[in-house]
Amino acid sequence: MEGAALSGKTALVIGASSGIGLATANLFADVGAMVHAAARRRESIQTGAGGRNVTAHALDISDKEAVWRTVEEVGKSDGIDILVVAAGMNFPERRLEQLTAEGWDAMISVNLSGAFYAIRAALPYLRSSGGLVVLISSVSGRWPDASGPAYQASKAGMIELAHAAGFEEHVNGVRFTSILPGIVDTPILDNRPEPPPKEVRDAALEPEDVAQACLFLATLPPRAYVPELTMIPTAIQALGKTSTATPPVSQVDE
Ligand SMILES: NC(=O)c1ccc[n+]([C@@H]2O[C@H](COP(=O)([O-])OP(=O)(O)OC[C@H]3O[C@@H](n4cnc5c(N)ncnc54)[C@H](OP(=O)(O)O)[C@@H]3O)[C@@H](O)[C@H]2O)c1
Repeated sequence: MEGAALSGKTALVIGASSGIGLATANLFADVGAMVHAAARRRESIQTGAGGRNVTAHALDISDKEAVWRTVEEVGKSDGIDILVVAAGMNFPERRLEQLTAEGWDAMISVNLSGAFYAIRAALPYLRSSGGLVVLISSVSGRWPDASGPAYQASKAGMIELAHAAGFEEHVNGVRFTSILPGIVDTPILDNRPEPPPKEVRDAALEPEDVAQACLFLATLPPRAYVPELTMIPTAIQALGKTSTATPPVSQVDE
C-alpha cells in the first residue's frame, strides 16, 4: 500500500484479539502498516481480511520470557516502529475488601509488568527506528472511581512508566504516550460487578475512536511528542466527572 499513512512502518500491537487493540491493529493495517498482533486468543486476531498484512502471535503478556521471545522475533525480522500495549484486564471482585493478594498480583502482572516487559524487550528496535510506544492506560489511573484499587494502581503505574521512559528516551528519539480513555464499549465492561446498561454503552466511546487516537499519534512527525492523551465520551464524562450515568435526554440534545 504505497503512499498510505503507515506504509513502510511495522507495528506490534499487544492485546489485539478484542476491543481497542483489535481496532487499532485493523486500522493500522488498513493504512499500510505491517502489523504483528498478539494476544492469548490468537484465533480471535483478524489476519489478512481485506488484504491486510497482519501476523498473529499467541502471547500472554504476563509471561516475561514469552514477551521477550515474541518481541525479539518481530524486531529481528521486521523492526519495530510502533508498539501499542492494549492488553489489560479487570475482574468483578475489585473492591479493596474483596481483593486477594493473588488478584492483586495478576492485575499488576498483566496490566503493568506486561507493559514493562514489552517496552524493555522492544527498546533496541525502537531506538533504531526512532519509534513510538502507546500504552492504553485509563482515566482510572488519574482519578478515583469504582474500577478498584488494583486496576487503578496498575493504570497509574502505566502512566508513570511512560513518563519516566519518555524522560530518558526522548533524547534517543523514542516517544512514549499514555492514552487515558474514559468508558469504551468493549467486552471488558462485562467484568464489572454490574455491567453498564445499553444506554451507557451506546453513549460510550467505540474502540475505533481510540484506534484513531493511536493513528494520530503514529502519524505525527517524529519531532512532535504527545506524552498523554485523554479521550472521554462527550455525553457522559468530563474531566473529574467519574460517573458514567447518562444525563436526561434533554441535556444530551442541548
Ligand atoms: N473499555 C474501557 O472502558 C476502557 C477504558 C479505559 C481503558 N481501557 C483499557 O484498554 C485496554 C484494552 O481493553 P478493551 O477495553 O479493549 O477490552 P477487551 O475488549 O476486553 O480487550 C482486552 C485485550 O487484552 C488482551 N489481554 C488480556 N489479558 C492478556 C494477557 N494476559 N496477555 C495478552 N493479552 C491479554 C485480550 O486478549 P486475550 O484475552 O486474547 O489475551 C484482549 O485482546 C485495557 O488495558 C483496558 O484496561 C479500557
